[in-house]
Amino acid sequence: MHNPHRIGTTELVVHPIGYGAMHLSIDQSRRPLPADSVRLIQHAVDELGVNFIDTADAYCIDDTETGHNERLIAEALRDAGRRQRVVVATKGGSIRPEGRWERNGRPEHLRAACERSLRALETEIIDLYQLHAPDPTVPIEESVGALRDLQREGKIKHIGVSNFSVPLLERAMREAEVASVQNQFSVINQRQEEAVLKFCEQKSITYIPWNPVGGRGKAAQLAEVSALLSEIAAAHNTTPHVVAIAWLLQLSPAMLPIPGTTKIKHLQQNMEAATLTLTAEEMKHLEEGHR
Ligand SMILES: NC(=O)c1ccc[n+]([C@@H]2O[C@H](COP(=O)([O-])OP(=O)(O)OC[C@H]3O[C@@H](n4cnc5c(N)ncnc54)[C@H](OP(=O)(O)O)[C@@H]3O)[C@@H](O)[C@H]2O)c1
Repeated sequence: MHNPHRIGTTELVVHPIGYGAMHLSIDQSRRPLPADSVRLIQHAVDELGVNFIDTADAYCIDDTETGHNERLIAEALRDAGRRQRVVVATKGGSIRPEGRWERNGRPEHLRAACERSLRALETEIIDLYQLHAPDPTVPIEESVGALRDLQREGKIKHIGVSNFSVPLLERAMREAEVASVQNQFSVINQRQEEAVLKFCEQKSITYIPWNPVGGRGKAAQLAEVSALLSEIAAAHNTTPHVVAIAWLLQLSPAMLPIPGTTKIKHLQQNMEAATLTLTAEEMKHLEEGHR
């Protein structure tokens, strides 16, 4: 079993695997009924040990229902005992006009978005508030500075950033203490993330990989996408998704994967990755086989 994960150098210590709630909201034709989503979140917390949930104000169909995902989480965790056991990480800085994904990193927008997230999450303070993505039209110092001000005012406990490069991270860290970075990364989608991951390890920043099992496009066919994942999964009597998550966990102590799913069965499988140990040879094959 992997050790619990400390987020950055904060007081927040969570299960080594979190839950990404995005798919409960962003696609009208695929999202579960609200009552089923609430049940899934409660099952995750009560039965599977999930105590880190990732969301965003922009996880919705469009900007007529901003905060949809946050409201589901608030409803599921309304019971005080449950709420106290869970760290909820949300994000601001993305907007959904007519369903498009756009960025708004202006300080006045981030302030209003944070206030709205506080209401949607039914909380007085947000555990981890992440800048969803850098806005190329706004200096990063201004966006991160707005989060630092919100932190000083007691509206957010800790600051995270998302979709950041090392140079942007260095600039952000001159403005505020950064507890986490959330970037796209998985065994089948390694891209150029080594530098960010190494930087996070050196600076004791948590690295939260999004799309950890390949994202919706590839996850459904993961066995076909990677024969190597399938082969190793068969050897461990598990699924390629579980191997993909175990690979991330073993790659770095900075890692906090947040696989996303709308199905309790998949959630249960994904959490099993915390107890799967891959051999050094399997780790190496997986890395080299997907470069
Ligand atoms: N910061 C950002 O810019 C950003 C961008 C994207 C996502 N995120 C966050 O990262 C989280 C994870 O990313 P993601 O959800 O896009 O990618 P992901 O976790 O790699 O993939 C999710 C997809 O995998 C399927 N899946 C999950 N577990 C499975 C299993 N055991 N067996 C078979 N299929 C499985 C799910 O389908 P089913 O529903 O059918 O299980 C879903 O379609 C999101 O939920 C969100 O919180 C952040």
